[in-house]
Amino acid sequence: MEIEGRIAIVTGAARGIGRATGVALAQAGARSVALVDVKAHELAEAADLVTDAGAEALPLEADVANLDSLRAVFAEVVSRYECLDILHNNAGIGEGPPEWPEITPERSMAVVDVNLRGVILGTHLALPIMQRGNGGAIVQTASGSAFMPLPPQAVYAATKAGVVHFTRSCIPLQETHGVRVNCVCPGLVNTDMPQEGGVDGVAPWLRTAWESANLLQPEDIAEAVLSLVRDDSKAGEVLEVDNPA
Ligand SMILES: NC(=O)c1ccc[n+]([C@@H]2O[C@H](COP(=O)([O-])OP(=O)(O)OC[C@H]3O[C@@H](n4cnc5c(N)ncnc54)[C@H](O)[C@@H]3O)[C@@H](O)[C@H]2O)c1
Repeated sequence: MEIEGRIAIVTGAARGIGRATGVALAQAGARSVALVDVKAHELAEAADLVTDAGAEALPLEADVANLDSLRAVFAEVVSRYECLDILHNNAGIGEGPPEWPEITPERSMAVVDVNLRGVILGTHLALPIMQRGNGGAIVQTASGSAFMPLPPQAVYAATKAGVVHFTRSCIPLQETHGVRVNCVCPGLVNTDMPQEGGVDGVAPWLRTAWESANLLQPEDIAEAVLSLVRDDSKAGEVLEVDNPA
């Protein structure tokens, strides 16, 4: 798909990978990028960057885990543009510490709600809109943690494995709805999430991994997302973006 002139939604767009994708879409000629996040102040900053990069920015404060909140996002985009071409389901939260199994059940379910439920709901809501138009491209942000047991972050890793499996199970949507669903699986990316950790700060194992890794930048992941949007041959693709050696 050519990105020029397209209408896009990016979730978790106030900062980090989502913000980088919003800016990259604008630089690639997208007409409008709706930026969805729970962080109002950072959303305004991201919107300025998208505008500077040449697209209309539509900052929308919303919670991807809440169906009504997310419905309002898609309704706003349709009422303005009557279509949707690109969706990056990217919003996510980390697990802790406290980590599995000390993590509270409430936090566990919040991780599931944002990282998995939010991706499924976003895909659900986008499908009929894209099908009515010229089809579309959806890219989910999963994680390299989808592929290996990660005992301290068992819940987080399970959500990301779920996103990968969901993506693969969406392959037929290319035929039935004209919608290609793919996902990116980043290694460690230089964003705030891993550096903030949970309510008890950053876990020692993660701090060690962080300090020894050759960190990816959010723009590296945005580039991978755009490559999946552009390549019409890709559906159900699980694109790993590993840390350089
Ligand atoms: N940073 C990494 O090392 C890394 C590695 C692999 C995967 N990821 C994934 O990349 C995605 C983006 O993370 P990031 O590293 O840019 O972190 P980040 O914290 O900088 O960005 C995540 C954004 O999602 C938003 N968000 C959280 N809950 C939300 C909700 N309920 N509704 C709407 N927005 C919400 C946050 O406010 C934040 O702006 C996440 O899905 C994360 O799991 C990150």
